[in-house]
Amino acid sequence: MHIGIVGVGRVGRALAYTLIHENYITELSLVDIIPNLSMVFSEELRHALASLGREISINHYTNPSDMTNADIVLITAGKPRTPDMTRRDLAHVNARIIKGIAESVFPGNKEARFIVVTNPVDAMAMLFKKLTRAEFVISSGTHLDTLRFKVELARTLGVPVRHVETYVAGEHGPNSVFLWSLTRVNGIPLHQFLHEKGISLNTSDVELKVKEIARQIISVLGGTCYGPAAAFRDIVRAIALNTCRILSIASPIKVPDIPEEVMVSVPQKIGRNLGYTLLQYLSDEEKGLIYRAGKAIYETYLSALRHVEQS
Ligand code: NAI
Repeated sequence: MHIGIVGVGRVGRALAYTLIHENYITELSLVDIIPNLSMVFSEELRHALASLGREISINHYTNPSDMTNADIVLITAGKPRTPDMTRRDLAHVNARIIKGIAESVFPGNKEARFIVVTNPVDAMAMLFKKLTRAEFVISSGTHLDTLRFKVELARTLGVPVRHVETYVAGEHGPNSVFLWSLTRVNGIPLHQFLHEKGISLNTSDVELKVKEIARQIISVLGGTCYGPAAAFRDIVRAIALNTCRILSIASPIKVPDIPEEVMVSVPQKIGRNLGYTLLQYLSDEEKGLIYRAGKAIYETYLSALRHVEQS
């Protein structure tokens, strides 16, 4: 399995380090436009591989069009936000980068499955699909938000995180939709668990903490990387091993009153191909919020598209 990572910054490097521990990966291609960056980083990875006693062939490129024949490509190139910015503020600057990658990386990797990570991630994934017409393009969506939700809920309820089953949908970031209706703790629906334990849960407080945690991490550490890397590894693993796991990723779905399909996150079966979503099992309120997020994503996408068409 040949994995390509385009953009070897904070997130791309953490992702690459995470992926070298995956035993189905035989080849890793690292692409970054900063001269020597992917070359020296690939040396670091070889040292780590020597410690692990593993053989993965690592290629490094400065020119994105030199990477060819990847099975899965993750796009982690682009500007990250600072604590005072929203992800949507990045739409224009990163749209130009996505356009460049669509033109340079897609032609040599037409059979690849593409996972877009660059923010605002759902709109950027839509843009990449529009510009390339690649068959399999997804946004990493709200799987990372889902992991953050699990952590916060487990902490609040005082249970191990592995006993919490839940999902976040909608748009990655402040427009995310917390799927309380699907939440189970110790295998029991949340409302029943709370009733049996006599716990009253402040759901708004949990949601706020989940939405704010990235900003806190960025303020202190300068950016997020290990949580995202693990989240993207889950997606790569689901595709590469065809695990058909349910993950909150964004793929094109129909949103009422929008003329095109929109990449908005809904828990979805994911393996080598995309399967059913859990949309039909959600409450009307949750569906309404997901569609509202979809409309906001579509507006951001249209603005990004206009921007690259004009420049
Ligand atoms: P960074 O600034 O550390 O790294 C970005 C890298 O992309 C740089 O090394 C830069 O040289 C490279 N780059 C820029 N244009 C390129 C091109 N055309 N081809 C190849 N490489 C190129 O930024 P960081 O922190 O790694 O974040 C990257 C992106 O990921 C940002 O847009 C950030 O907002 C996003 N992100 C998304 C998350 C998600 O859940 N979807 C989570 C965390 C970050």
